[in-house]
Amino acid sequence: MNLPERINELKEKNDMVILAHNYQLPEVQDIADYLGDSLELCYLAQELEAETIVFAGVAFMAESALILNPEKTVLVPELDAHCPMAKMLSPRDVINGKLRYPDAAVVLYGNTTAGAKAEADVICTSANSVRIVNSLDEEKILFGPDKNLRHWTQQHTDKELLPVPDNGYCYVHNSLITPEDVKSLRSSHPDAEVLVHPECLPEVQAMAERVLSTNGMLRHAMSSSSDEFIIGTEKEMCYRLQKEMPEKRFYGFDKAICDDMKKTDLEKLYRVMRDRSNKMELPREIIEKAQRPLQRMLDLSR
Ligand code: 13P
Ligand code: SF4
Repeated sequence: MNLPERINELKEKNDMVILAHNYQLPEVQDIADYLGDSLELCYLAQELEAETIVFAGVAFMAESALILNPEKTVLVPELDAHCPMAKMLSPRDVINGKLRYPDAAVVLYGNTTAGAKAEADVICTSANSVRIVNSLDEEKILFGPDKNLRHWTQQHTDKELLPVPDNGYCYVHNSLITPEDVKSLRSSHPDAEVLVHPECLPEVQAMAERVLSTNGMLRHAMSSSSDEFIIGTEKEMCYRLQKEMPEKRFYGFDKAICDDMKKTDLEKLYRVMRDRSNKMELPREIIEKAQRPLQRMLDLSR
């Protein structure tokens, strides 16, 4: 039996489901039971009945799956797959922000550690940041860590978004997709619609027809009358889009690679499923504290 066959056999025998983020390697996307953006993956983790979730993504995503379902087992093929942006905001930064602005609500991006989430009032993702911020009573909102998502959200609210920390960002979207890159790809494909992620620079956002989460890009491309799209996000998103819509064309940025998303491969998936190893674990009190802001996000996004 080859690796995909062995993985499929383990899935069936052991009541396991594989959830994968849209940036995973093509072979991991192909073997996954469900693909999604970070919001969709939270809903799936909660709704699916399987007792064991095998999570192909980065640590904060698997942590959220566990926080929302502490009774389930969450296995991670690679324990050392982290989102560098999540490490830019410590729980102490959030506590200090709250001391400085006691009247502000705290909205943290899902790309944060569980410890930081435990200090938040509500979590958001790129799919729902505007909706979450506008649903709150407070006029001042501590918002972090991503400065570009904050910029995007600020364009769509009258509330005052205060940064925490001063300057968080994603190196893939902020530094590897430049306005010059977009201009150059656009000159090769003048009829393509430009869809970019809100983690991109404000100048890149301003060049786009739409600013969307990764699943937002999928939904938009499916309903759009355009046949061609420039995709301003991690490069593997194009694999997902092209597979779902073979009749359309998707052009991505080859250098926009998230190294940590690429740490998961079929061999590691197989090994953790066979051995039931690499269990995601978090301190009980962090799970209890972080559950409220995460669940609040899900309730506000339905
Ligand atoms: P999405 O929730 O839009 O998939 O984004 C997650 C992410 O890490 C973007 O870099
Ligand atoms: Fe983090 Fe950026 Fe990778 Fe997304 S693409 S997981 S924000 S480093």
